[in-house]
This record gives sequence, structure tokens and C-alpha cells, in this order.
Amino acid sequence: MSKKRILSGVQPTGNLHIGNYLGAIRNWVEMQPQYDNFFCVVDLHAITVPHNPEVLAKDTYTIASLYLACGIDLQYSTIFVQSHVSSHSELAWLLNCTTPLNWLERMIQFKEKAIKQGENVSVGLLDYPILMAADILLYDADQVPVGEDQKQHLELTRDIAIRFNDKFASEENPVFKIPEPLIKKEGARVMSLSDGTKKMSKSDPSELSRISLLDSPEMIKKKIKKCKTDPVMGLSFDPQRPECNNLLTLYSIFSNQTKEKVALECADMGWGKFKPLLTEATIEGLTPIQEKYEEIMREKGYLDTVLKEGKEKAEMVANATLKRVKSALGFLV
Ligand code: TYM
Repeated sequence: MSKKRILSGVQPTGNLHIGNYLGAIRNWVEMQPQYDNFFCVVDLHAITVPHNPEVLAKDTYTIASLYLACGIDLQYSTIFVQSHVSSHSELAWLLNCTTPLNWLERMIQFKEKAIKQGENVSVGLLDYPILMAADILLYDADQVPVGEDQKQHLELTRDIAIRFNDKFASEENPVFKIPEPLIKKEGARVMSLSDGTKKMSKSDPSELSRISLLDSPEMIKKKIKKCKTDPVMGLSFDPQRPECNNLLTLYSIFSNQTKEKVALECADMGWGKFKPLLTEATIEGLTPIQEKYEEIMREKGYLDTVLKEGKEKAEMVANATLKRVKSALGFLV
């Protein structure tokens, strides 16, 4: 029996932070032996907000290399760049024309990002979830491992696929496979270090709000030292204490201990004792990734070969799906 398929991606907008790692990539690594995996660097999504052309290619390399550094294994997984496979843009257009506009206007991320940008909102920002649906549906993905903030986009992807199948295909012979979101409980929503009620995000103007995967030990130490805490004595996984809850969760993940064990260990601790423990566990968790990253970046040409092979493998699958879609829509194929 052939393996089920996974597809997921990250935008090359700056460095990855521990939210991206714990919410998404760490789970990809863990699951990859059981699946047939496609992981893309979604560079077309990165230009839905104003971007700097001088750093897009560099950021794309960084993310692809971090995929490998985090443990994505080419024996199980294909790594490629979204813009290298033109079917993504083409399917996005076809889905644009078969999806109601008001489905997009309800998207929470669009509303949040549009408010932040004021006047300068691009059509692409509204269309973002359609391109994301195209990414997923092109690969007949069974599962899509993401952080919690992507849940609504995945529900939309399912709705788009179901509606398309209903309108343009028969029940026995659907065009699209309906994908399932895969959102793990632990780490699905890592919160900002400056405000435990806000998600850790690449677009937060304060660098102190997030820990990047490539932050030096000194930087990690500084960020944890400065992070927001609360004045309550003793530490606990209390949802009423968002900062405490978030920092204990990070500690439990990076130190590979259960929440129960961490709750016991930290019950009588103050922040002065806890912060060095969290710092040490975080540095220990990120050091092997950083070492591998440096190694990959030193090997000139290696990443280009990985991405070229990835493009070829991705194209084979994506082009076949695109052909099926065009045929269902009545195009001369
Ligand atoms: P991006 O780059 O914003 O996020 C990449 C992944 O990181 C997760 N994530 C988080 N998880 C936990 N806590 C956080 N604070 C946190 N911040 C981000 C996101 O949920 C995501 O899994 N739209 C996607 C990119 C995309 C995609 C796709 C994903 C484009 N096409 C197809 C899956 C399938 C995104 O959010 O990227």
C-alpha cells in the first residue's frame, strides 16, 4: 500500500522563529518516515505584503536550508520552492474563478493583516488562501501539518475542494482529494515573549518578542531575561497566566519533559531560578540545528541541487493534477 501524502510550507519572510519550528517543522520531521512528504518554501506568499526584492532569494535559501537543518530527510521528503513550480500560480487562477469572493473576505488573517497595512492592501493578500489551497490540492495531500493559526485556511481549502468536486466532477471520480489539517496540541500556538496573549510572529516589530532559530546563545539569554513575566509566586500551567503558561510550555518541549514533570519541578520556583533553566534548554535545543545549518550553507551548490531535484519531483505530481483540473473545467488539454 502506498504511503499517505503530506504537504506543508513556510513563507520566506525573514528568519524562522521557535513558533514556526514547534508548531510546524518539528512535527514534519517526526512524521516524515510514515508519509510521502512535500515541503515547499512559499515565496509567492511572501510577496502578498510589501517585500524587499533584495532579500527574497536569500531568505528562500535560508528557509530551505533550515528545513534540512531541522531534520527534514530527503530519503522521505521533497523540498522545493513554490515559484519554481508554475502550476501553483495557474491552479490559483482557476480556483479564483470558482470560489466565491465572500469566502475570502471572512478570513481572520486577512482582516488582521489588512488592518495593520491600512491603505496599501494588495489583491494578493486577499487571495493568499486561494494560493495556499492550490499548494495543498495540487499534491493530493492527505494531511497538512500546521500551527493553529492556519486552521481557518485549511477549512477553506476543504470547502473549495468540496465545492469544486460537486460542480465539476462526479462522486465516483472526484478531481480533488479533501485534505485534513494536522494540528498537534503541544506547540501549536507559541506566544510572544513580550505579550503572552499574542501569537509569536515574524511580523512583530519587536525582535525581543520572538526567538529565532539562528539566534546566538547570548541573544537567546538576553531575550529570555527581558521577556514578560507576572508577579505571582510559584510557576504553573495556568491559562489565567498567559506568560507563565507559554514559558513553561517552551521549557517542557525543549527539555523533553512532560508537562506534569515540569509543573512539579517549577511549582515553587521564582522567575530568577526558572529563566536560566529555560535559557539553557532552548540553547541546547537550537544548537544542533544551527550547526547543521552552517554546514549546509558552507557546501556551495548543494542546496541548488536539492531544490532542482525537488522542483522536478514536485512538478511531476503537480502538473498531473493541474491537467485533471483543466480537463474538468472544459479546457482543451
Ligand atoms: P507562515 O510562514 O506564517 O508559518 C509557517 C508555519 O508556522 C506556524 N506558526 C506557528 N505555530 C505555532 N506558534 C506560532 N506562534 C506560529 N506562527 C506560525 C504556522 O501555523 C505554519 O504552519 N500560510 C502558511 C504558509 C503556507 C502553507 C501552504 C502551509 C502556504 N501554503 C500550504 C501549509 C500548506 C503560513 O502560515 O506560513
